[in-house]
Amino acid sequence: MVNLIAYFYHQTSDLATMAQFNLSINGKQRQVDVDPNTPLLWVLRDHLNLLGTKYGCGVAMCGACTVHLNGIAMRSCTLPVSAVGNQEVTTIEGLSEKGDHPIQKAWLEIDVPQCGYCQAGQIMSAAALLKANPNPSDEEIESAMNGNICRCATYTRIKKAIKKAATY
Ligand code: FES
Ligand code: FES
Repeated sequence: MVNLIAYFYHQTSDLATMAQFNLSINGKQRQVDVDPNTPLLWVLRDHLNLLGTKYGCGVAMCGACTVHLNGIAMRSCTLPVSAVGNQEVTTIEGLSEKGDHPIQKAWLEIDVPQCGYCQAGQIMSAAALLKANPNPSDEEIESAMNGNICRCATYTRIKKAIKKAATY
């Protein structure tokens, strides 16, 4: 049902009133003309072709759509573009220049992903955690990553990779 609602919203959003937004995304200024209620996720994917951020549930329950807003992990599927303002948005494409953020290096070293679908969101949540807390305990990792669902159950490797990244 939720997916149907999201699909319907997506298909009918063209009918709504448009407005122009200047967004700071991955260090660049981007301008979009969209319905102010459009979730940031769809602005990223449909208007800016930043496809790394994934759609999972659409209701802030799975973490697949996680991006950073001023360095803090945020669900982009429920964040209206009108609420972004001047805050710096970072997506998985902008996390590092060469894919060499400590979390990305640890993900490779530990070989975390299975199907990969949830992994951009996992990485963005983990990167925000390490920025706020460079040496998290097991409990702090579990608490910070709790809302990021992985259908392939890569949780053990995710925790191991976050601990590895903390040592770099
Ligand atoms: S798609 Fe945003 S939390 Fe699931
Ligand atoms: S790696 Fe498949 S859903 Fe997480």
